[in-house]
Amino acid sequence: MAAGQKFYSTQGAELSCASCHTNSPKLEGKHAKTNKAVEPIAPSVNPKRFSDAAIVKKWFRRNCNDVLKRTCSAQERSAL
Ligand code: HEC
Repeated sequence: MAAGQKFYSTQGAELSCASCHTNSPKLEGKHAKTNKAVEPIAPSVNPKRFSDAAIVKKWFRRNCNDVLKRTCSAQERSAL
């Protein structure tokens, strides 16, 4: 299993990235707490993603804190 996928689907005691973004970053997800739809985060299927550095930074800070209780490393961020 690629390191990026392992990171994505197994981190965190209660939540993993997959909790809200499904098992594949290419699928539309659903927020684990609010049930709101989350558009795919993979830029290969959703060209809007990773196009605005401020937005990417904001979500990485929030999501990584939720899941890991810390920010993600540069290596973890590029694994997506
Ligand atoms: C509690 C639910 C939840 C979890 C857990 C979660 N995310 Fe997210 N994530 C969201 C929501 C909601 C958005 C914004 C959705 C939108 O813009 O449609 C988002 C947006 C993002 C984006 C923004 C991409 C862009 O350019 O717009 C990235 C990257 C991302 N998440 C990565 C991750 C990673 C990596 C993890 C695991 C460490 C993770 N997420 C865990 C809910 C979650």
